[in-house]
Amino acid sequence: MFLDRQNTNRVIFMDGKEAAGRKAIDEIREGMTVGLGTGSTVYYFLQVLAEKVAEGLSITGVATSQKTVKLATEWQIPMKPLNSVDQIDITIDGADECDPSLNGIKGGGGALLYEKLVAKASKKRVWIVDSRKEVEQLGSFPLPIEVIPFGWKQVRQAMENKGYRPELRLNEQGEPFVTDAHHYILDLHLRAIQDPASLAAELDHVTGIVEHGLFVGMTDEILIGYPDGHVGTLSRKDILRRSGK
Ligand code: A5P
Repeated sequence: MFLDRQNTNRVIFMDGKEAAGRKAIDEIREGMTVGLGTGSTVYYFLQVLAEKVAEGLSITGVATSQKTVKLATEWQIPMKPLNSVDQIDITIDGADECDPSLNGIKGGGGALLYEKLVAKASKKRVWIVDSRKEVEQLGSFPLPIEVIPFGWKQVRQAMENKGYRPELRLNEQGEPFVTDAHHYILDLHLRAIQDPASLAAELDHVTGIVEHGLFVGMTDEILIGYPDGHVGTLSRKDILRRSGK
């Protein structure tokens, strides 16, 4: 909640997610192809993007999940599938945890595979998060890995053997959660990830894991929304400047 500075009689209710989601519209320009992430923070970005489209902004969206396709379709945001575009100008997506080096965990909503594909096709990647997602070290949030249903128990065993505490994600009916690409998800309860890059490389080579939710060096900027409505920015450029590179 904060006071609208233009009209001090008006109290605006906004949480960090909404603040970050709405701020991301400043990144969008006429004619862009825009990757549309997934989740409750992206919801606010889509809301304001739909308002701008209704006012005449011309963009093409590329969705990262069926949930986002549904929402964007309802809100009349023009869209193309990933296979119909050569490149994406910018992707706006959420994250479950992010560290000061701009690494993160994604996939709390189960969309990590499509999110990573869209991120890799994007010239610029921006995450929108509320301030509770900022951590010094990744790993408190369980790391999702997307696995093929055939032999998923073998992968679970392999993860157990490494001490990664895997848990099959279930839906509300108590059945395995199935991703848009028809895979299962194992959530790894790691507690602390010492070296995200080496864990990512290790998981990249496990047979049966289609993708994991560690995004290492895969975002350029993070917009962090605070409960008072202000939005901070953490960018790769700032980090490089600070380290003198
Ligand atoms: C979807 O699978 C995730 O990667 C989301 O982007 C992430 O979980 C952030 O979601 P919220 O914005 O809902 O917290």
